[in-house]
Amino acid sequence: MKTKVICPGSFDPVTLGHIDIITRASKMFDHVVVGVLNNLAKTPSFSTEERIELLREATRDLDNIEIVGFDGLLADYTRQRGITAIVKGLRAVSDFEYEFQQALINKKLNSDLETLFLTCSSDYMYLSSSIVKQVAALGGDISSFVPACVHDRILERLGTSK
Ligand code: PNS
Repeated sequence: MKTKVICPGSFDPVTLGHIDIITRASKMFDHVVVGVLNNLAKTPSFSTEERIELLREATRDLDNIEIVGFDGLLADYTRQRGITAIVKGLRAVSDFEYEFQQALINKKLNSDLETLFLTCSSDYMYLSSSIVKQVAALGGDISSFVPACVHDRILERLGTSK
């Protein structure tokens, strides 16, 4: 049986940390769905369509990847699509509590669904979309944080282009 997994997130915007996890998942599983979702606890800076577009561009070299956006519960979507596992990156102990809670809730909502964690690469331990937004807004260099092919588009939106 082919393995189909999902890497969900808000990707607002995509970072090199996300690309690291998606690339590694694409080597381990037959098909990787990248789910661009709205985290109700956050107000996005990029529309869902923009986030999908940036991810498409940044993953164009990977051929077993599908980028989708949807509303509603991840647990329902995975059931409809026959997705067996959620794959997420764990940066540090500070991520663990939140991620563990989500994994347990998703399991409660869909008992067939597993959550797998990949330890993030040490290069990206510190990286998050919110840090990228802050650095860009204050005129800092984000070139080592986001994929080169979408750097300019991200910078255009986030603030001061230098
Ligand atoms: O990148 P993020 O913001 O940490 O991703 C969180 C996300 C979008 C994966 C999470 O909020 C989510 O799964 N949202 C979809 C709605 C849902 O299923 N919520 C219940 C589980 S938390």
